[in-house]
Amino acid sequence: MKNKINYNAPEDIKDLDIVNLFELEREAKNVLPKDGYDFICGGAGDEYTLERNIEGWNKKGILQRVLADIKYPDTSTTILNQEIKLPVIVSPIAAHGMAHESKEAGTAKGVAEYGGSIMSISAYSSVSFEDIEKGLQGNNRWFQIYMSDDKEVNKNVIDEAKAVGASAIILTADTNVDGRRERNIRNKFIYPFGMPIVARYLKDGADDTSSDTVYSRKKLNLSVEDVKFLTDYSDLPVFVKGIQTPADAIKAIDAGVSGIWVSNHGGRQLDGAPSSFETLEGISNVVQGQVPIVFDSGIRRGEHVFKAIASGADVVAIGRPVLYGLANGGWKGVKSVFEYFEKDLKTVMQLSGTQTIEDIKHTPLFEYSK
Ligand SMILES: Cc1cc2nc3c(=O)[nH]c(=O)nc-3n(C[C@H](O)[C@H](O)[C@H](O)COP(=O)(O)O)c2cc1C
Repeated sequence: MKNKINYNAPEDIKDLDIVNLFELEREAKNVLPKDGYDFICGGAGDEYTLERNIEGWNKKGILQRVLADIKYPDTSTTILNQEIKLPVIVSPIAAHGMAHESKEAGTAKGVAEYGGSIMSISAYSSVSFEDIEKGLQGNNRWFQIYMSDDKEVNKNVIDEAKAVGASAIILTADTNVDGRRERNIRNKFIYPFGMPIVARYLKDGADDTSSDTVYSRKKLNLSVEDVKFLTDYSDLPVFVKGIQTPADAIKAIDAGVSGIWVSNHGGRQLDGAPSSFETLEGISNVVQGQVPIVFDSGIRRGEHVFKAIASGADVVAIGRPVLYGLANGGWKGVKSVFEYFEKDLKTVMQLSGTQTIEDIKHTPLFEYSK
């Protein structure tokens, strides 16, 4: 795979002393090339939804409780019978190589060294399944697919994902056309390296994986039939990612999904959309525990993890925080991000008088009067 442009990703591998993730983002800006930082941090349009993904958390409060046993907060949980020590997993993210020269292999090692989480592997990963596997050291992995117009391509990619032990498929349904990401347009952004998992299917024998070529093959008439095809063909649990309304959640459940992934793609798609958190409660009210809910977009603190779980999520996923950890400290930085979330979530659990993730699920949030 030839390099299309020179791109000098950071190489440092070090533990990070994270005070908060907003600071970590500023530090990432200092170590990343401008086009790489913009690619990662940016959202669509005016970045209104990107900002609202953070502001939206303040719509509800957490009540502090006292006289409760808070000696041993336990953050462990399960999803699809997979045990994890923290209800925080890795969102599918394209091109980790924009953040660090170790690419997805670094992220995978960070997840494994933390002690286990679930790594969602993007179809647009910058290394092969085999390289990710080396880092993961046997940890759980889910595979995210963008469906192609070509059914054979979808089958081949699923076959490969299954062969390397993917235990769930994530169908990303919200990005069949790209949001208007003005930072990328301004920077004339192209991926500086190929995408080995899907590259060979994109254009016969070509190594051209600029975003235009990649995106031109996405299926624009995605439907419940595609969800059924994925479920039947893969014989794995399937999530639909990008659910933002109760109606679409019901559609996905009727199509036979094993999980709903509530997400607005980190504010990178429809600008002007509400924060992902603001959509969660309505969705969880119709899902009613029929299938698990993964939530993402805007998780930066233990408080956010808590509020998402109290509003119906089973686990949350993180996108940019993973890449900011990777950029600043390689695999050790990714591990530090998970440690930060564990510590912060435990503090919030102790202050709110909860001992387990199940307790959080039964804790009503405070509704501010309008
Ligand atoms: C740089 C970047 C690349 C992404 N690539 C993908 C992708 O390949 N597939 C996908 O389903 N979502 C992708 N996403 C969206 C994430 O899965 C996730 O929904 C989002 O990052 C969550 O928001 P957060 O960054 O605020 O945590 C990407 C997000 C970022 C920031």
